[in-house]
Amino acid sequence: MAIVNNKNEMGQVVPENGQKWDSTEPSRGSFSYSQGDIVPLLRCHTLIWYSQLPSWVLSGSWTRSTLQSVIETHISNVMGHYVGQCYAWDVANEAVADDGNWRDSVFYRTFGTGFLAISFNAGQKADPNTKLYYNDYNLEYNGAKPDRAVELVQIVQKAGAPIDGVGFQAHLIVGSTPSRSSLTTVLKRFTALGVEVACTELDIRHSSLPASASALTTQGNNFANVVSSCLDVAGCVGVTVWGFTDKYSWVPETFSGAGDAFIYDKNLGKKPSWTSISSVLAAK
Ligand code: G3I
Repeated sequence: MAIVNNKNEMGQVVPENGQKWDSTEPSRGSFSYSQGDIVPLLRCHTLIWYSQLPSWVLSGSWTRSTLQSVIETHISNVMGHYVGQCYAWDVANEAVADDGNWRDSVFYRTFGTGFLAISFNAGQKADPNTKLYYNDYNLEYNGAKPDRAVELVQIVQKAGAPIDGVGFQAHLIVGSTPSRSSLTTVLKRFTALGVEVACTELDIRHSSLPASASALTTQGNNFANVVSSCLDVAGCVGVTVWGFTDKYSWVPETFSGAGDAFIYDKNLGKKPSWTSISSVLAAK
């Protein structure tokens, strides 16, 4: 915790799983914050997502009106609990599939895209002072997915609902990250819509381990490029890493054989990635 609590190292943190629906409302109407209550300055994540939903949400037979009430109750309780502590909230997460179609979910099946405006409106009501974000991965390369995410922002805006930001999760692979200029271009597609952007879950994994010295250097250069892209865009407000030490990571469970995606090694030593990010920030 010494690293996490050191303001020179981390400006804000995300409770990785503790604010998700299966943690905060495991049974209907019964709220628990034991896993999310950690430290005061938070990027808060996430309210409306197809994954990590408790079974009562997944298997309920909902009408629009009952599910709207369930969404509003969930958002008002969870955001209400953290009022004043969150710089931003990921109101909706991963609503677009990798091929650019709308992602199937209990929310999309019930409302079409209407669940988005319902959720962002509920977010504003619950905490008018936090930034309300749409958050997704694979937005970092121009293509069908960011195209649809642009449309998503426009749908929310046209419905008269508030949306303040778009989070680029940026779960990337060493050696195949977008170039500094191509990432800048896609970030600017969103700031042109009047929302801010941020890299919200940055990690850059090695596809095979152990990583060679040259792969570690490449990883450092890749991190530096992503941070530089954000610095190049006026409306890019920050970069958050989705874990900081290779000792603890979501990556190997999801991508077998891959890992070491962070900026400190397993012994909490600073990697070339830490040094290259630090140099970019120092030169700013
Ligand atoms: O809590 C249970 C524990 O009781 C059980 O014994 C154990 C056995 O599998 O599982 C534990 O739950 C795991 C949970 O993390 C907490 O550790 C789940 O299996 C596991 O699937 C879950 O993974 C999380 C993943 O989201 C789920 O989709 C990762 O930690 C978390 O880093 C990851 O985060 C997501 C972001 O929310 C959205 N963007 C992508 C990112 C990476 O997938």
